[in-house]
Amino acid sequence: MRILIKDFSSHIGQEIEVSGWLYNKRSSGPIAFLELRDGSGWTQAVAIKNELASEIWNEIERATQESSVIIAGAVSAHPKKPDVYELHLKNFSIVNLSPDYPIAKKEHGPDFLMDNRHLWLRSKKQWAILRLRDAVMTAIAEYLHQQNFIRVDSPIFTPNACEGTTTLFPVPYFDLGTAYLSQSGQLYIEAAIASVGRCYDFGPVFRAEKSKTKRHLTEFWMMDAEAAFVEHEENLRIQEGLVRHIIRYCLEHCAEEFAALERNTENLKKADSDFTRYTYDQAIAKLRELGSDIKYGEDLGNDDEVLLTKDSVVPVFIEKWPKNIKSFYMKRDSANTELVLNDDLIATEGGGELIGGSQREDDFDLLLERIKKEGLNADDYQWYLDLRRYGSVPHSGFGIGLERTVRWLAGAEHIRECIPFPRTIGRLKP
Ligand code: 4AD
Ligand code: MG
Repeated sequence: MRILIKDFSSHIGQEIEVSGWLYNKRSSGPIAFLELRDGSGWTQAVAIKNELASEIWNEIERATQESSVIIAGAVSAHPKKPDVYELHLKNFSIVNLSPDYPIAKKEHGPDFLMDNRHLWLRSKKQWAILRLRDAVMTAIAEYLHQQNFIRVDSPIFTPNACEGTTTLFPVPYFDLGTAYLSQSGQLYIEAAIASVGRCYDFGPVFRAEKSKTKRHLTEFWMMDAEAAFVEHEENLRIQEGLVRHIIRYCLEHCAEEFAALERNTENLKKADSDFTRYTYDQAIAKLRELGSDIKYGEDLGNDDEVLLTKDSVVPVFIEKWPKNIKSFYMKRDSANTELVLNDDLIATEGGGELIGGSQREDDFDLLLERIKKEGLNADDYQWYLDLRRYGSVPHSGFGIGLERTVRWLAGAEHIRECIPFPRTIGRLKP
């Protein structure tokens, strides 16, 4: 019977078969230890020469790192380590030999590993990150459906900018001129809320950002959520609820992944508590107190985000920013019309910005004024302005960066570890 490694615990004492890849082999004379991975988990098979037919032992000797194999044997619980199981090998066959696997056990530099990304994905840390990424996506979908959002996807080829014209990727588009790769599906799901009330999209977005940092990709995944009749305060509550749901879901489902990543999960548990809130004004004052030379009216850099959150065990909202440094669609704050009703959510432990969100300008005239002021072509935004012409409602939304979130949860150093095939200014392959 072929089973998955993750199901070993319910097959103790039984003879079963597993199929996968041999990621390591050690032998000491008449005993061989075969370390196997099947996608669902990692295990060790013990082969004893004098128990096996010589053809089987020869195949074991012939097998190399990363050969694909089928192993049969009896499952046993590890005598000392709880939740660890082993296979006592009875049969062994090679599906495909892997000669001279380029990634050896020794240390390789990041460029080499990135060039061999298609193979490096097999490493235990990458396995853990891929699974954590999947868990984050599942947690997001689960939470949003609980909150009555449905998924409505937005296009990737778009005629206009959502997040400023300086980071657009142009694509020649037949006889229609230039299309741009979407920076965020927000404007489209703003249209869809008048149909379904609350919705979200989830897909790749693109920024031709010349930022060479550990937090920027040129192609990344974003979940944009949008809800009708939701104002600033409730928008923040939904965001906090979402991030706390993601933490709890991953802690519950990804214990093995966190262990493989050597992640301190105590810090994540602590982060699942009421988030801190600063206004932009308070954040600037606090940063200056902490020694930053940031001036009122400036955007926060990475260092500022890290400094502001260094002593916080929970993520921090920074709300109500000066409108001049924020996007055209954000609603102005009636209490101070120089500010907008927006927020950035900054993670703990140097995770940086996870979410950007805002209440949207729902007044036709004010929105048109902002579009013009930004130097955007109002004709391109007529469809978007229509949403304020025909049954405009107060509404809010936000976007969460998937790789930023995974980076934070995994405790990964660099965002390029958090997407299967990263795209940065300097990398397009494999
Ligand atoms: O703050 P941003 O630019 O917000 C928007 O795009 C809004 N339209 C979203 C909305 O309201 N629906 O981007 C949202 C998030 C950031 O907080 C960050 O997590 C991530 O997307 N992000 C990036 N992740 C990786 N690489 C980059 N270059 C990123 N730029 C933004
Ligand atoms: Mg932002």
